[in-house]
Amino acid sequence: MRGLCKSYGRDGVVALDDFSLDFPAGQCTVLLGPSGCGKTTVLRSIAGLITPDSGRITIDERVVFDAAARADVPPEKRGLGMVFQSYALWPHLSVAENIGYPLLCTGASRIEAARKTQAMLEWIGLEGMGGRFVHELSGGQQQRVSLGRAMVANPRAILFDEPLSNLDARLRERMRLELLALRQQAPFTSVYVTHDQLEAITLADRVVVMRAGKIEQVGSPEDIYRRPRTRFCADFVGIANLLDGSIRSVNGPDVVVDTVVGALPARCWRTDWSIGAKCSVAVRPSLLCMREGPSSGARPGRVVRSIYQGTSTIDLVDVDGVQIALESMSDDRHAPGSAVFVTATSGAQFAVLDD
Ligand SMILES: Nc1ncnc2c1ncn2[C@@H]1O[C@H](COP(=O)(O)OP(=O)(O)O)[C@@H](O)[C@H]1O
Ligand SMILES: [Mg+2]
Repeated sequence: MRGLCKSYGRDGVVALDDFSLDFPAGQCTVLLGPSGCGKTTVLRSIAGLITPDSGRITIDERVVFDAAARADVPPEKRGLGMVFQSYALWPHLSVAENIGYPLLCTGASRIEAARKTQAMLEWIGLEGMGGRFVHELSGGQQQRVSLGRAMVANPRAILFDEPLSNLDARLRERMRLELLALRQQAPFTSVYVTHDQLEAITLADRVVVMRAGKIEQVGSPEDIYRRPRTRFCADFVGIANLLDGSIRSVNGPDVVVDTVVGALPARCWRTDWSIGAKCSVAVRPSLLCMREGPSSGARPGRVVRSIYQGTSTIDLVDVDGVQIALESMSDDRHAPGSAVFVTATSGAQFAVLDD
């Protein structure tokens, strides 16, 4: 995509603002961002379901949309598969007919369509269920049918629009791992839209964080999780502590930052940091620890509150007037007012934000 712009309606809500991005073949590119940031608009532009105001889209070498040249290939000629949040299956067709439908549209013979449909039913784990109607399946099975339908005609890419959002938490988790397993069996090119950071981190080869119709950060799942570039990204991937700091030393992209919880090793994206500069550091609560006795480099604080949440306990600790969140795997809760000493987990690296 190059220079895509799209506004909606009379009041001209800007959904995409000069958006450019490459989607590498064989990879899963995940668009991650809050509701309303333009993810669906990107996907529907690729699919040909909406017409952008300007810009150009090519798939492989072929131009499928070019506003300036007035080129706009219709959706069914773009060779893409799509999986929607709402499944969008046909209620009056059987499971097998739903899956086989794209094959008949592309002119496959009935025999070939039946063979490929059968293979797809096996692949998505619904062997023997081809004769059922869609309403005779669970939500997870319905979503597998819509995946099968999207994949059966061997598309050049599959577009996913929040496909797991309608499922309950347990099923969502299972489908996430199943999708990953399917991809590992036979990699396919996909663009996957979600507002769920866990889905993005698990499924992506590359994550694109979007904000208000623009790209905020592009990176590997590890980059997005460990090295967010901006406050917005850090906040969006759930990093609770954004600490003020000042740069103590610089070694290429690696710096040491003085903060209220001590000197923290960190990585920066901007390259113009100098010693003494004020900055913000994103500190994941699980990368801090606290002890009851003093230790070298640890800072004294007082527990404000301990919150037990099953897999971990969150402690809110006041250190020099700054409230810090720490996460530990322990079941121990601390009484409010307890004196503790806070330090970074040894070997942890933090992220200096651009803004
Ligand atoms: N058909 C439409 N008419 C008017 N505004 C729209 C329409 N579709 C989307 N928008 C607006 O465009 C922005 C981006 O929408 P969308 O691409 O659906 O975001 P996302 O998928 O990230 O939630 C939002 O502000 C949304 O309200
Ligand atoms: Mg959407």
